Amino acid sequence: MDTKRGPVMITNEQKIIIDYYENIGSAIKGHLVDIVDGPIVYNFIVKPGENSKLNTIKKAASEHNYMIAYSSKQINVQIPKETRQVVFLDKLLKTKEFKNTDAILPIIMGVDTFGEIMIKDLRKLPHMLVCGRTGCGISVFFNSLLKSLKSAVPATECKFIIIDPKGADYDIWKSDKHLMCPMVKLDAKAAVQKLQEVTELIDERYQKLQNNKVKNVEEYKKKTNKKDMPYIVVVIDEVADLRTSAKKQTELCVQYVAQKARAVGIHLIIGTQRPDALSGIIKANMPTRVSFQARTGVNSMQMLGEKGAENLLPNADILFSDAGRIPVRIHTPYVEC
Ligand SMILES: Nc1ncnc2c1ncn2[C@@H]1O[C@H](COP(=O)(O)OP(=O)(O)O)[C@@H](O)[C@H]1O
Ligand SMILES: [Mg+2]
Repeated sequence: MDTKRGPVMITNEQKIIIDYYENIGSAIKGHLVDIVDGPIVYNFIVKPGENSKLNTIKKAASEHNYMIAYSSKQINVQIPKETRQVVFLDKLLKTKEFKNTDAILPIIMGVDTFGEIMIKDLRKLPHMLVCGRTGCGISVFFNSLLKSLKSAVPATECKFIIIDPKGADYDIWKSDKHLMCPMVKLDAKAAVQKLQEVTELIDERYQKLQNNKVKNVEEYKKKTNKKDMPYIVVVIDEVADLRTSAKKQTELCVQYVAQKARAVGIHLIIGTQRPDALSGIIKANMPTRVSFQARTGVNSMQMLGEKGAENLLPNADILFSDAGRIPVRIHTPYVEC
């Protein structure tokens, strides 16, 4: 039989598998169990060999900018696809997982590396500190969190306060019923004033709880049947901008809100480009952390207590850590804003 000889075409997928074996396979010394196709990465599921050392594996992954997730039984080496899919929020809003969630304040964080929807309850977090450089997708992410809340909780039960020192990315909310007051844009003084009003509102609400001998907003609603204590979500798109102009006041307000607001139904979502510029006080009071791609391993440590975020993709890719737990990788969704 005639056989033709000639150059062999290697597909992108094959190239990725070769990369895996050349770059990290030898460090893992195990066998590849499965390759699962996610929207943005391939998940190489590997059973490590008996003598494989986690540190060696971590080092090899880091040298080649791969993210890994591991349990005692297996390692998931996540290798970016050549072309990533966009994860659309609108599609996730229609899933049965979101429609049937029992979260009080459900927020769609995005999808995991396998493409499974990730939903959190902001009521439980109860605040979130998010770090990332310009262009990584923070404003789109915040808009998608607000849209998740809007589609799950009526405006009578949940209000938004939006502080956007850059002043460009939240115009879609301008005449939305969920907005509690006009958006605060560009004006650091007005932003600090707004934060101060929030601290006063916290005190007023505590007074009401005390008068009714209840401990939190849920008990208050049950006991009084009143609708005068909707949940409030305060979004600050870039807190470092505020701190440079009104450092002390911003810090005091954020600290007060972070420490006291949960019982009275108020939640903070704060973005920053510079985790190193945040004070220890703010960080200590905001244990739920999100990091987009970090500049360095040190920046990742500052946000999450461990390295890793430096190996994320430049856009819409996060590590989420809930009160010091092991960070989980999530691809954030896209929404027009
Ligand atoms: N989840 C996403 N999927 C795809 N592209 C995204 C996503 N999030 C953001 N982007 C792209 O990145 C750009 C910058 O996002 P933006 O949220 O404005 O960044 P930041 O606020 O961090 O500077 C957006 O205009 C959009 O094109
Ligand atoms: Mg932005």
